[in-house]
Amino acid sequence: MRALLIAGNWKMNPATVAAAAGLARAVKAGVGQETTVHIVVCPASVHLSLIDQILEGSPLGLGGQNMHWKTEGAYTGELSAAMLVDIGCTHVILGHSERRHGMGETDRMVNDKLMAALGVGLIPIVCLGETKDERLGDRTEAVLLTQLSGSLAGLEPEAMARVVLAYEPVWAIGTGLTASPEQAQAAHAFIRGWLAQQFGQATADHVVVQYGGSVKPDNALELLSCPDIDGALVGGASLKAADFLAITECGRQAARRKSGKTH
Ligand code: PGA
Repeated sequence: MRALLIAGNWKMNPATVAAAAGLARAVKAGVGQETTVHIVVCPASVHLSLIDQILEGSPLGLGGQNMHWKTEGAYTGELSAAMLVDIGCTHVILGHSERRHGMGETDRMVNDKLMAALGVGLIPIVCLGETKDERLGDRTEAVLLTQLSGSLAGLEPEAMARVVLAYEPVWAIGTGLTASPEQAQAAHAFIRGWLAQQFGQATADHVVVQYGGSVKPDNALELLSCPDIDGALVGGASLKAADFLAITECGRQAARRKSGKTH
């Protein structure tokens, strides 16, 4: 069975070092040594170093929210994959819709970043998802196909097995609108079917595919219990420790359901 992965994408929040440290301490205390689900926090890059120190001794992973594909050089304002590893990161979010749609990030760039991340042993969380117009125009699967084949181009099955995908319908991000469990499961099954075609069933069965888009404590259990949903990428609700911890608890319950245990 795939272990569930719950990741908190803090985006450009919280505003101060003190608030970010407080949030990290509260999440660390709440998670304790629990490892049934894998949990990662992705703070702003200026907070990564401090939060890495705070998380010491905890099973929590640490993720960057973006990186450049080049290894070093004259790229003002950018971060390399090796810098993220050096500072203690285990994961990196790539191709988030706020970067694809807000910063002009293309599948080609995501693919270059993916290769750079894998090259230094980071676990990439590659985001995909359709806009509202694309869903209404019945183009969800076509958009996912383009993003999957572009972002994951050139990967061997062994490398694919080290990649996490996050299906995040753009219309559900930060809007309070969540894909229904049926809509989300259908998209996840489509993604897994494509993975099976491209990389073989064993690899497809191994790849963790998270759902993201207004995941909250009150909708997480239903979403996470879907057979092809293997975790959540949580934005707004990851900024309140109690809400994020409640979502991780939903992850534990969903994992028990999926393994057939009733308690
Ligand atoms: P949201 O964000 O939970 O606030 O909708 C999710 C994301 O952008 O990863």
